[in-house]
Amino acid sequence: MKKELRAQMIRNGKIYGVGLGPGAADLLSVRADKLVREATYIAFFRKAGRAGHARQIVSPLLSNDVREFAMEYPITTEIPLSDQRYNELLSNFYSRCSENIISLSRAGQDVIILCEGDPFFYGSFMHIFIRLKDKCPIEIVPGITGMSAAWTATNIPISWGDDILTILTGTLDKTTLENQLRDTNAAIIMKIGRNLSKIKQSLEKSGRFDDAFIVEYATMNKQTVQRLSEYEEDNAPYFSIIILHGKGRRP
Ligand SMILES: C[S@@+](CC[C@H](N)C(=O)[O-])C[C@H]1O[C@@H](n2cnc3c(N)ncnc32)[C@H](O)[C@@H]1O
Repeated sequence: MKKELRAQMIRNGKIYGVGLGPGAADLLSVRADKLVREATYIAFFRKAGRAGHARQIVSPLLSNDVREFAMEYPITTEIPLSDQRYNELLSNFYSRCSENIISLSRAGQDVIILCEGDPFFYGSFMHIFIRLKDKCPIEIVPGITGMSAAWTATNIPISWGDDILTILTGTLDKTTLENQLRDTNAAIIMKIGRNLSKIKQSLEKSGRFDDAFIVEYATMNKQTVQRLSEYEEDNAPYFSIIILHGKGRRP
C-alpha cells in the first residue's frame, strides 16, 4: 500500500459490516453487541416505508443520540431480476450509498453497517463492501446465519458424516433446482417468496418433497416450523427457508 494512501487511511473513520444474526436480539456475538451499543453512526438497508429488519433487531441496543443513514431500496420485486433496468437501478443505488459512507469515513466518522445474519452470505452489504474495500478501512463481524437458525428450529441435525450440503435459492430455474436437489444429501433453499410453487415442483420431481420442512421467521417471535407437505400458503414470507436434512453416516 502506498505511504500516502496509508497516511490518509489512518485519519479515516472505520466502517464495520456487522452480522446481527437471524433475528433474536440475544443472538448477536459479543463483538457485534459491543459495536452496536457504542455506535455513533449506523447505516442499514430498508424497503421504502418500512423500519428495516436489521434496524429493528438492534433497536433496544442503540444509544439515543445515534445518527442514522437509512439506505432505501429504489425497487425490490417491482421489476424482474432479468430486466436490465433492475441491475442499473440497483448498481446506481449501491454506488450512491457507498459514496455517502466513504464521505463519512473521510470526515473521520466510524459507521456500523447493520447486516441481518452474516454480512458475507447473500446480503446487500456485499455490494457496498466491494465499492468501499479499497477506499476506507473496513472490518467484518460474522453473524449466525438464517439457515443455521432455521435448521436449529427443526430440532433435527442438518449434516452428518460425509453428507453434501447444498445451498440453493428459489430464484434458480426449475431444472437447476431439480438436478441439484437430486444430487445432494442435505439442502437449504433460501429466497422462497413467490417461487414456492416452482420449488415444490422441483422437490417433487427429485423425490425429496416429503422430507422437506419450511421454517418461517427463525428465532423471531412469530417463528413457525412445518412440513412442507402440510404448508397451505401459495407464497411464503421473505423470511422463510426450506430445509432438507442429511441422513449420512452415524456410528
Ligand atoms: C438476502 S438473504 C440474507 C441472508 C442473511 N445474510 C443470512 O446470513 O442468513 C435473505 C434470505 O435469507 C433467509 N433468511 C434469513 N434470515 C432468516 C430467518 N431468520 N428466518 C427465515 N429465513 C431467513 C430467507 O430465505 C431470506 O429470503
